[in-house]
Amino acid sequence: MSILIGDKPVGLCSDHAGYELKLLIEGYLEANGITFIDFGTHSTESCDYPDFAHPCASAVESGEIYPAIAICGTGNGIAMTLNKHQGIRAALCWDVELARLARAHNDANVLVLPGRFVEPDLAARIVETFFNTPFEGGRHQRRIDKIPV
Ligand code: RB5
Repeated sequence: MSILIGDKPVGLCSDHAGYELKLLIEGYLEANGITFIDFGTHSTESCDYPDFAHPCASAVESGEIYPAIAICGTGNGIAMTLNKHQGIRAALCWDVELARLARAHNDANVLVLPGRFVEPDLAARIVETFFNTPFEGGRHQRRIDKIPV
């Protein structure tokens, strides 16, 4: 796995339903020499995804980490939470093409995975695509500039 976007640590967060996949992704990152910060959760014990998503989102906004990967069971709850932050563009991706477009068209700064709906090999390909696809800018810059409320 390579990484073209940024030289900061990658951030990760999940709830219990995303915990196992988060560990697998951290293994991929470690194997490829990519540093990361894990904002939790740290077990499969039932928990509430906002408790981990908000600190991770704030760290993206402050510039401490970039990009981030967030995982819950469906991806929806954690994506909803992340996208409450003005500086966050979190994209729920369950295939490689969605990940490519989330970067190319939306300049997504958080990749959200549905932990109960993607197999580990596919998740790794989604992560690699997200990391290696540059933002196209142009008309897409104009559109994302209009997202904040
Ligand atoms: C946890 O059971 C589940 O509700 C959560 O991981 C997520 O899917 C919510 O959107």
